[in-house]
Amino acid sequence: MITRRGFLSHSTAMTTLALAPLNAQEKSAASKTQSRVMSGSSVAATVHPLASQAAVSMMAQGGNAIDAAIAASVYLSVVDGHNSGLGGGCLMLIRRSDGSLHAIDGREKAPASASKDMFFKNGVADVKLSQDGPLACGVPGLIAALHSAHSRFGKLPWGDLFVPAIRAAHDGCKVSRSNYNTIKAEQEVIKRFPASAKVLLKSDGSLYEIGETLIQRDLAKTLESIAKNGRDWFYQGEFAEQCASHLREQGGMLTLNDFKNYEAKDRPPVRTNYRGFQVVGFPTPSSGGIHIQQMLQILSRFPLKQLYEQGDSVNYYHVLGEAMKLAFADRAHYLGDSDFVEVPSFLTSMEYTDALAKRIDMEKSTRVPGHNDSKSNAIDDGKKHTTHMTTADRDGNWVALTATVNTSWGNKMIVPGTGVVLNDEMDDFSISPGVPNAFGLVGSRANAIEPGKRPLSSMSPTIVLDAMNEPSLTCGAAGGPRIINATLQTLLRCMDLGTSMGDAIAASRIHHQWQPDLLYCESSLGGPYSREGGSNNPIVESLKAKGHEVKLIGNIAIAQGIERAKKEPDGGVALIAACDPRGEGMAAVI
Ligand code: GLY
Repeated sequence: MITRRGFLSHSTAMTTLALAPLNAQEKSAASKTQSRVMSGSSVAATVHPLASQAAVSMMAQGGNAIDAAIAASVYLSVVDGHNSGLGGGCLMLIRRSDGSLHAIDGREKAPASASKDMFFKNGVADVKLSQDGPLACGVPGLIAALHSAHSRFGKLPWGDLFVPAIRAAHDGCKVSRSNYNTIKAEQEVIKRFPASAKVLLKSDGSLYEIGETLIQRDLAKTLESIAKNGRDWFYQGEFAEQCASHLREQGGMLTLNDFKNYEAKDRPPVRTNYRGFQVVGFPTPSSGGIHIQQMLQILSRFPLKQLYEQGDSVNYYHVLGEAMKLAFADRAHYLGDSDFVEVPSFLTSMEYTDALAKRIDMEKSTRVPGHNDSKSNAIDDGKKHTTHMTTADRDGNWVALTATVNTSWGNKMIVPGTGVVLNDEMDDFSISPGVPNAFGLVGSRANAIEPGKRPLSSMSPTIVLDAMNEPSLTCGAAGGPRIINATLQTLLRCMDLGTSMGDAIAASRIHHQWQPDLLYCESSLGGPYSREGGSNNPIVESLKAKGHEVKLIGNIAIAQGIERAKKEPDGGVALIAACDPRGEGMAAVI
């Protein structure tokens, strides 16, 4: 029996799913059914059941959690290409069995000829140019980061990690609900790029239905080439040449030299002590690490458990929402790529976070004036972006990996003959002060476009260590700026309230990003996430009474996590991997 720190009255939904046929190796490696929450000695949680299986099949073959995360990531580029893939970037946080921590930055970079006014037409910023088409694309970083991790920490041969993904691309995979919805939503833009339409639409231009098989032979060849020839084939050779020349023909500015000069970077992780735990996050270009740290420090001044257990727990959500608002106001003003701008260290100092905590009025919502006037838009509930996956093995290696092409299907361009979807990460820069990006986020000069700079990200892969320095929890999410607040809330539930990871991920969430000045709430707030929360949630009504302008939203981010739990009666350790009920993911274990 496994000791869980459950507190919610509902039991975790344990849906099962029959899997597509696997090869013999994978069959022996993985169970035939998967659940949203599973426990084992080596575990994986991703947004796709077969990607989770690809991950654990690596660990069953003698690989470690780093091999497993790489296999899952390349697998997702086949079955979940609207969220992440070879043409995108990632942030990878690793805790190795020797206790060392590594933050590998595979964030995209602006081309060398990029400039701060590259998205201006007739003096007006045109966000369409930073979201769709050739100018929207930064230099991809995923393969460089995966390769950097593997060359130092992997156990299996590099090529082996690609086998499940190559097979899925070559033989075809079933179109998922999110594949279908995102192709449907973007089909008019996709049709503007014949190479993209050729892959993602049927020959008559119609949509592949959910459950139909999508074969991606060009992508299989690209994966095979990277598997065989390594990272340089992508950055120095054939792929880089093809991609740069295609973008140039279409009016883009990314060059072969931009590819050649790309390096994944090792960065020092951000660390915070919170109620006896050590929370390890990702530094800039992630904004998540710093702002989760900042919010934890603000929130450490409040008795969160007591507030949660009082009445309808409205004060718990109130104080969280106020902390989010304060943090996102700072994000908009101060944060950018720290290779280019100085991100002030006071943001997470005791003195400053104490002053922020004192600005929170428990009785009412406080207006946080901005540094600039914003024309920010409400966030688009229908769009889903990015992906978070996590793996851990019996030896104590843990990986939290968030990967993205930015908005669904990135810049909507597939490089002809390669199957590679390119990113639109240039939209994560502040293309002009006060002009919101696809997520309604505004920024300042700190996040302005510069040649070679990395755009600010909300990706927040996080690992939590216990008092013995052992990994205890990990979480991260997908969903633009909602990533930061979803990761924070999941970890707070585990650390403050003693909730199990499965229940913490399932719990309903709130989100505030300073601008627009709205408190987004899932309508099932106070219980586990449900699409059918209704419009008269008592907590939401109490939050309105405190002066919050509330907007109900379908869902707030899609998170994956792992926790370490004790097995009774032998006291051994079990790992529990959990996927978000808001997504289509299933965990896999051995
Ligand atoms: N592209 C979404 C993010 O990095 O925040």
